[in-house]
Amino acid sequence: MARMQLGILISGRGSNMKALIDACAGRDYPAEIALVLSNVASAGGLETARAAGIKTIVIDHKAYPSRAEFERDLDQALRDHGVELVCLAGFMRLLDKDFVKRWHDRMINIHPSLLPSYRGLKTHERVLEDGVRFTGCTVHYVRPQMDEGPIIMQAVVPIDDHDTPQKLARRVLAYEHKIYVESVRLIASGNIRPRGNKTASKGLKFPKKGLISPTPDDA
Ligand code: GRF
Repeated sequence: MARMQLGILISGRGSNMKALIDACAGRDYPAEIALVLSNVASAGGLETARAAGIKTIVIDHKAYPSRAEFERDLDQALRDHGVELVCLAGFMRLLDKDFVKRWHDRMINIHPSLLPSYRGLKTHERVLEDGVRFTGCTVHYVRPQMDEGPIIMQAVVPIDDHDTPQKLARRVLAYEHKIYVESVRLIASGNIRPRGNKTASKGLKFPKKGLISPTPDDA
């Protein structure tokens, strides 16, 4: 079966991109990377992608007089490379509603919180300030509002009283890599699709047990 063609958009180190590169190296994984695109020429992830033999393109937003012109070239590059699913992976530009519409249900994002809580930046700082016991990460379809759209997959990460934003970010990131890889697998294999503001799945198992934190003595 033809593998789904991914276009990954990055602005930085690209560890989620790397998780997808590693997954796509597997013979049975139903997707492959057609293109890695960055708006930042110095993004560390570009080197990682090149080293893996993946086509990279830099489209520097600063070189464009308007967002619309920048996004026109972004869109063209994705089409030119036959991209079927756009994966935002630490892409630090807000995308305009025209671009989002063009890739409706064909663009996904990873966010380091349990959406719809803690949209935006500095999620780990904010969850620690609020003293919540759990945080996590979310993969979702992209809609015009930032960090909004049908949720595909989430992972829950318990918070420790001694956590720092850095420690928590490291633990959450490990789960980001897992759920991004699994979300792309679900989409590419046709096991999940958007339905209204949610997603519908087929043939998937759901855990019956939740988590408790802090863990009571007798648990
Ligand atoms: C991740 O925490 C992701 O959830 C957020 O940006 C960060 C990107 O990290 N959207 P990386 O570049 O994938 O390492």
